[in-house]
Amino acid sequence: MVSGRAANRKGTHIMRIIRAKDYADMSRKAANIISAQVILFPKSVLGLATGSTPVGVYRVLTDWYEKGDIDFSKVRTVNLDEYCGISPDHEQSYRYFMNQNFFNHVNIDKANTYVPDGLAADYEQECIRYENLITGLGGTDLQLLGLGHDGHIGFNEPGKSFIPLTHKAVLSRRTIEANARFFGDASKVPQYAVTMGIRTIMKAPRIVMVVSGEDKAGILWQTVNGPITPDVPASVIQLHTDAVVVADEAALKLFPSAD
Ligand code: GLP
Repeated sequence: MVSGRAANRKGTHIMRIIRAKDYADMSRKAANIISAQVILFPKSVLGLATGSTPVGVYRVLTDWYEKGDIDFSKVRTVNLDEYCGISPDHEQSYRYFMNQNFFNHVNIDKANTYVPDGLAADYEQECIRYENLITGLGGTDLQLLGLGHDGHIGFNEPGKSFIPLTHKAVLSRRTIEANARFFGDASKVPQYAVTMGIRTIMKAPRIVMVVSGEDKAGILWQTVNGPITPDVPASVIQLHTDAVVVADEAALKLFPSAD
């Protein structure tokens, strides 16, 4: 059973669920965890995520940076994924998203921020390069994740097996439709992306997943309590020894309320 207690002290695979009142509270709580990581280890390698859910986390971190509470000058970051076929200055590219929502507002050295190259001439090579880059950094210390409506993490879409390493992914119809709101219409959403693989993600010693809204309640329940299956790629985090889900009340609608 899931509880708010630190259940994995002995290495048992029980995810911690942190209950937040609402989106703002979820954002602050997740930002607190990331901020503690950076304060304790200023040279941390943060695995970062895009999507609408983590925007509030980046806002809070920016706020605390402005107040002088966090220093990002030595932090390195690697992002989970990037769309294929769009340039870094395209408004919907994840590089652009990261710059706009976070990097432009804090004292991070952009040369130390990594996002897959959406315009790579050879995506197979790009996937190898990105995987090696992460390994070269010593792996991520903390990986921030959102949760797709179909259970994807990064762009690891539901499928027949978990794909371990960075790869070129085919976006599911559901994901294309979910992301159509950003591109104007579904036909403009890229059909492919370069994404970290499941093993790349799982190698992070700590995973922090942020989830908000009633529309994620069903998939969050499956992620935490359902079978571990590539049909719900996020379910794999049940096997992680330090996975924390920070979710708001709406997303936790199907979970019994606090103990
Ligand atoms: C995108 C990203 C994911 C993200 C997900 C959910 O497609 N590739 O990393 O977690 O969708 O996005 P949102 O937070 O907007 O629901």
